[in-house]
Amino acid sequence: MFGAANNQLVSSSSHPPPSVKEGILSHPPPSAKEGILSHPPPSVKEGILSHPPPSVKEGILPFSAFLTDSFGRQHNYLRISLTEKCNLRCQYCMPEEGVPLTPTQRLLSTTEIIRLASLFVKEGVDKIRLTGGEPLVRKDVTEIIGELKKLEGLKTISITTNGITLAKKLPVLKDAGLDSINISLDTLEPAKFEFITRRKGYKHVMRSIDKALDMNFKPLKLNCVIMKGLNDDEICDFVEFTKHKAIDVRFIEYMPFDGNKWKDSKLVSFDKMISDIKTRWPDIQRISDQPNDTSRAFRVPGFAGQVGFVASMTKPFCGTCNRVRLTADGNLKVCLFAMRGVPRDVLRSGASDQELLEIIGAAVNRKKKQHAGMFNISQMKNRPMILIGG
Ligand SMILES: C[S@@+](CC[C@H](N)C(=O)[O-])C[C@H]1O[C@@H](n2cnc3c(N)ncnc32)[C@H](O)[C@@H]1O
Ligand code: SF4
Repeated sequence: MFGAANNQLVSSSSHPPPSVKEGILSHPPPSAKEGILSHPPPSVKEGILSHPPPSVKEGILPFSAFLTDSFGRQHNYLRISLTEKCNLRCQYCMPEEGVPLTPTQRLLSTTEIIRLASLFVKEGVDKIRLTGGEPLVRKDVTEIIGELKKLEGLKTISITTNGITLAKKLPVLKDAGLDSINISLDTLEPAKFEFITRRKGYKHVMRSIDKALDMNFKPLKLNCVIMKGLNDDEICDFVEFTKHKAIDVRFIEYMPFDGNKWKDSKLVSFDKMISDIKTRWPDIQRISDQPNDTSRAFRVPGFAGQVGFVASMTKPFCGTCNRVRLTADGNLKVCLFAMRGVPRDVLRSGASDQELLEIIGAAVNRKKKQHAGMFNISQMKNRPMILIGG
């Protein structure tokens, strides 16, 4: 099996064809003329390869130019949203009135997902996370994992799930090749769970957590969105939860998306969370983070698990962002707070791999240095989180 570096050997970007060298939009494919690339931004007109990535070190193969943005960030992590549907209705994610679902024929099929994923992996993506909506409501999720597992160079397949139906699916998901799991859980109180998610299911989630631990999924992460007045009184309970369980609880700052009624007064910042924890565990220690990890990791000495903080709002980590997202309806999102490009339409117009890569490369190249800041993004038009894929 080839590693990611070997993939780059055959990557089309390491030997770009003449049209690419001259600027990717000098010969746009017919579909692109009619579609999203009819008004390319200035940076794209200049050609995405006019600024070779700073990663080109002596003796090391260059990372894909298509997946390297104009600030040198290398996007080796792809998140794929498998569905817009969900069996919960979390207040911070899904508007109360629900969301208009994209007609099925406009959602990416399994074959389209695998084709796009394989293109990304050939260019150097080595980690894929499946998300949604709730990825486990998609009937062919096991098949998708099995197909992804065959991609040479892909090191990790992860899933983010609400855990409602996870327990019973775990054995087949593991057999298919699932490597790691994030389970979302915002409260340890059953009644509050029902209030936050507008559905029952607390026991199912707890069962999934225990089973994933029994099956030795490591690290097992719990995603916990903290909102003032809702679950900020449980932060220490979640820390306590890591005492005997080898779990990584991630406290996520509440982010604004369409329809989630975000207010800065509901945001609990990283600084506030850690200071609350320190009143009970003054000796909590900062421990090392994984490369490109968006979370700041801490551990209470002697505890089996650890906690982390995803401070997207008060301490954005845009500078090291290595993620790109594919939405269930085939859009590319290079930032949670920006929409770029429609590979689905280009894909369906019969585009070659090279043409698809050019669309992807143009979107990545236009990625901004950082998101617009918490007050600006709260005013921006975006999708509800459920239609993006967290
Ligand atoms: C959109 S969900 C999709 C996957 C799956 N349904 C789940 O809940 O784990 C992915 C992650 O996004 C997080 N999320 C959703 N809305 C959010 C918001 N407004 N702010 C911060 N995180 C959010 C969820 O907590 C979840 O961990
Ligand atoms: S956070 Fe996940 S579980 Fe909750 S509504 Fe959104 S997609 Fe569904």
